[in-house]
Amino acid sequence: MSTTQTLLQTQVPRPLSVGRRSAVVGTGSCLPARSVHNDDFPATLATNDEWIRTRTGIRCRRLTGPDENSYTLGLEAGRRAIAAAGLTANDIDLIVCATVTPYTMCPSNACRFQGELGCRPIPAFDVIGACTGFIHVMSIADQFIQSGTCNNVLVVGSDVLSRTLDYTDRSTCILFGDAAGAVVLSATGEQGRGVRWTRMYSDGARGDLIRMPSHVTNTIAVLSEGQAAAPVIPHLVLNGREVFRFAVRALVGLVQEALEACPVPEGARFLLVPHQVNQRIIDAALQELPLRPEQVVLNLDRYGNTSAASIPLALDEAVATGTVRSGDHLLMAAFGGGLTWGGIMLTL
Ligand SMILES: CC(C)(COP(=O)(O)OP(=O)(O)OC[C@H]1O[C@@H](n2cnc3c(N)ncnc32)[C@H](O)[C@@H]1OP(=O)(O)O)[C@@H](O)C(=O)NCCC(=O)NCCS
Repeated sequence: MSTTQTLLQTQVPRPLSVGRRSAVVGTGSCLPARSVHNDDFPATLATNDEWIRTRTGIRCRRLTGPDENSYTLGLEAGRRAIAAAGLTANDIDLIVCATVTPYTMCPSNACRFQGELGCRPIPAFDVIGACTGFIHVMSIADQFIQSGTCNNVLVVGSDVLSRTLDYTDRSTCILFGDAAGAVVLSATGEQGRGVRWTRMYSDGARGDLIRMPSHVTNTIAVLSEGQAAAPVIPHLVLNGREVFRFAVRALVGLVQEALEACPVPEGARFLLVPHQVNQRIIDAALQELPLRPEQVVLNLDRYGNTSAASIPLALDEAVATGTVRSGDHLLMAAFGGGLTWGGIMLTL
């Protein structure tokens, strides 16, 4: 049997009627205080609100200030998810944090969360997966729960890409924001609920399309010449046009695969929670998919692309507003640096 066949056999969808599965039992998020609207970019950047809105759908983003970073945001998002789950730090068996912008490389954000939350000496680690990172850490948490190793896992996505950007490069700096989102994934035997399908991919041969520096600066984003700070060098570089094409193909493929593997029962609600990257990418994908725009959970107009935080932030808002509710079939689908892409289908 080939490696591919072995992999696919272990990834067949799971029936929701039998066995131990993982389910989302709480969500949380945290945003930096500082809002930057399209009009706030300085004239020297030679951009404008109309260009940014029509090419990306983004109106505003949040950027970290001096006392905020991926650890502080992730910690608060994690606290809120644990509280929403009705659990305490003592109940958590594992912490996994997706981030490409950890506060420090060592200790990891996850270890900092473990210490600050006052958890038992449980395993805690970060995973670098860029914009697909939240799918990676959800899949890891799901595997730990299915295997019976853990009952409750804190899963965090936290990134501060503003600390990797060149704010004189109009083609990239307008796209990104900072944020954190979290969920608690817990074991359940409840019929009809939980993670049904996970799938992840990579294509390192095209990795040069999105490149990031190997370190994060402590310098906060500088939007005008009046504010003194050193430029961030080296900084994030991306091939926007090629990534755009890749993102549309990845999103279409993931939705088609998920719906084929896990058909949505007659009368049930199906919603897509995509990586929040660009309204035009979502619109282009929708043209090829059997989905209506109202089935897509979106908040990119307010926060831009927040990397590993984008899906849990959108999910947390959707739970808070009642846009998604218990019994809904959700597909989380992400794509980004690596290149990487992946999806998770679950019933809330
Ligand atoms: C970046 C992105 C918005 C650019 O949109 P686009 O329609 O492809 O625009 P182009 O790159 O073709 O640029 C068109 C023109 O707009 C200009 N432009 C780029 N950014 C601009 C800005 N912020 N304001 C005004 N003009 C801008 C370009 O310089 C170019 O000018 P030219 O025609 O004189 O050379 C789009 O490609 C995108 O969203 N890509 C994916 C984003 C991504 O990679 N995300 C991270 C991975 S998850």
